[in-house]
Amino acid sequence: MFKDKNLSPKQLALLTALILSSLIALSVFVLIANWKLLLVYFIACFAVIYFLVNQILELFIYKKIKLIYKLISYTKASKREEAYQKYILPRKGIDEVREDVEKWAAQKAYEIQQLQSNEQFRKEFLQNLSHEIKTPIFAIQGYLELLSDGAVEDPILSKKFIGQAEANVQRLVGLLNDVDVITNLEINKDSILKQHFIMQDLITEVVQNLNVKLLKKNMQFQFKKGSELPIEVFADKNKIYQVLVNIFSNSVKYGKIDGEITASVYHLEDKKILVEITDNGIGIDEAHIPRLFERFYRTDDARSRDIGGSGLGLAICKHIIEAHGENIHVRSQLNVGTTIGFTLPQ
Ligand SMILES: Nc1ncnc2c1ncn2[C@@H]1O[C@H](COP(=O)(O)OP(=O)(O)O)[C@@H](O)[C@H]1O
Ligand SMILES: [Mg+2]
Repeated sequence: MFKDKNLSPKQLALLTALILSSLIALSVFVLIANWKLLLVYFIACFAVIYFLVNQILELFIYKKIKLIYKLISYTKASKREEAYQKYILPRKGIDEVREDVEKWAAQKAYEIQQLQSNEQFRKEFLQNLSHEIKTPIFAIQGYLELLSDGAVEDPILSKKFIGQAEANVQRLVGLLNDVDVITNLEINKDSILKQHFIMQDLITEVVQNLNVKLLKKNMQFQFKKGSELPIEVFADKNKIYQVLVNIFSNSVKYGKIDGEITASVYHLEDKKILVEITDNGIGIDEAHIPRLFERFYRTDDARSRDIGGSGLGLAICKHIIEAHGENIHVRSQLNVGTTIGFTLPQ
């Protein structure tokens, strides 16, 4: 009966009553040596002590414990649950209560940490965004000032400065588009509309649409040997199109003149396929690789700053691939090239 080290109030009362009433009855027996009186005293003391101790425990300890539970649980117990807890479930021992409170405290600590990191994330996002907006805006401001300070009279200079201002407006528009895409992805977390399509066809479509950029750098595209046979996937075609555009644009942007881009599509186990886009461009230093998929992250390579976009491209890719429950990864070596790969369901 008392095996459990966490005694319930009733058990505690019972134990105390048993010990005290035995002691009292025994003392009475020693004094008067009457068996009948011993029994009467024992029963009377037992009943009174049991009742008192039980009441005291209920009043001073278990009412307070109940209050603690009211504080740490948000959901209100229904009448039935309350009755069940009160009359049927064994009362919790102090140790169990401590464990529950510790669990609750750990949960709260985790929630606070989560909130703090969200807050940090939000601050960094805003900081990065304002920084990214500032750069083109200041450039536009500079060119406008140059023009209004007299350059507008010179047809060659004015053409040059207007062209530069326009390029910066383009950059701003690109940035805002990317921010739009990433915030939309976050808001409609589940809006992945899957359909069946042939991966190679989509890749070919992307390459055709980026053909002007490829031609500008005289870059060649090909499928890797063994990847020509059509492979069907089940995914959000428009979003995967976006992913491919971002990856291919990077390969063109950070690729060499006369460079090459190769796409491969493989079957993996577990009904998955692996798509990899490889270029032989400037590559990425190992130090940058772990942070590459973060928002606004760009390698501090001066060339990347010059030609780079918003730094949101790969973050968008990661978002989309993870929304499919899949993975995206990068392998790269400086001055050798970069491979970006992602998996999709077949
Ligand atoms: N194919 C690549 N070759 C070399 N560097 C790359 C490649 N793809 C991405 N990077 C690096 O990763 C950074 C992040 O890429 P991304 O998120 O697309 O931003 P960006 O807007 O600069 O293209 C780029 O700034 C660039 O430094
Ligand atoms: Mg990019």
